[in-house]
Amino acid sequence: MNASLLSIRGLRTSFPTRRGLVQAVDGVDLDVRPGECLGVVGESGSGKSVTFLSVLGLVRPPGRVEADAIGFLGRDLSRLSPSEMRAVRGREIAVTMQDALTALNPSFTVETQIVETIEAHDPSVGRKAARTRAIEMLRLVGIPDAERRLSAYPHQFSGGMRQRVMVAIALACRPKLLIADEPTTALDVTIQSQVLDLIDDMRATLGMSVVLITHDLGIVAERCERVAVMYAGQVVETGPTRQVVETPVHPYTRGLLRSMPRLSHLDAPLLPIDGQVPDPTRLPEGCRFQPRCPQAIEECLQPIRLRPVSPARAARCVLAGAEP
Ligand SMILES: Nc1ncnc2c1ncn2[C@@H]1O[C@H](COP(=O)(O)OP(=O)(O)OP(=O)(O)O)[C@@H](O)[C@H]1O
Ligand SMILES: [Mg+2]
Repeated sequence: MNASLLSIRGLRTSFPTRRGLVQAVDGVDLDVRPGECLGVVGESGSGKSVTFLSVLGLVRPPGRVEADAIGFLGRDLSRLSPSEMRAVRGREIAVTMQDALTALNPSFTVETQIVETIEAHDPSVGRKAARTRAIEMLRLVGIPDAERRLSAYPHQFSGGMRQRVMVAIALACRPKLLIADEPTTALDVTIQSQVLDLIDDMRATLGMSVVLITHDLGIVAERCERVAVMYAGQVVETGPTRQVVETPVHPYTRGLLRSMPRLSHLDAPLLPIDGQVPDPTRLPEGCRFQPRCPQAIEECLQPIRLRPVSPARAARCVLAGAEP
């Protein structure tokens, strides 16, 4: 039985570089359930973006993607041809990229980009109907004067509006799953919450699932039912957000929480995590976090799997299974 919309098993993605092989994603298992918002957090370079670029078939050679399975609506995405994968991307899974300016095509108007997405989703739609839907989409994401703005180019929008346009394009195909990669990093706090509200509304209206990739555990705590914490290419802890934030099991999750002003206890000092993220071409043996971990023991030098902590939670730590 599998109640997941997306079910990633044994995902491994590597890039040959002059400095050696970068194992960017190393054995990731993740599930996204129908209608839920899953937060994916972790420091820069932990493999968040590459995980979902791999799922979407967007890793370019010489990058190499392997997976036991990537289940989505009864299919295994890891076995689809590039053209089958393009169809899934245009219709069932939408993505908004970390950088709106580079993700949007600078030489086409917003109209062209939205209309093309609508036509890819439903080729029987006429130009006129597609244009009407494009205006609706822009209104829906809160672009004022939508009809006139349709003929504008991406650079003619402010940063916040550009993010909205990207959300409009992503949602034009009425996807089952939206992958939102740092949708708000470049935006100020007010606009940030407007874009996130918009994604929440769309999730409810369209009944879609959302993967929200972010550095900000505070945003995850506010918006996501479940969270996956990544470190050095692996998922180190997953579970219902509330439980993970209140009783983190993995020392890395605890470190992240202690380094966050909004979530740490008021009387506790803010503490950065000691040490540095490992060089991805020279990963430590056993637990990747072990060289930085205040609780490391001999056993941590052995490979460690994601272990169940409770029916809904798991952690990649020898402490998992013990009382958190
Ligand atoms: N095309 C590539 N060639 C070589 N290495 C790459 C490539 N793309 C990503 N990497 C490496 O893979 C690792 C994971 O990168 P990824 O972009 O997934 O991190 P991230 O968690 O999304 O970070 P951020 O929070 O900064 O967006 C990093 O070490 C990165 O340098
Ligand atoms: Mg990223």
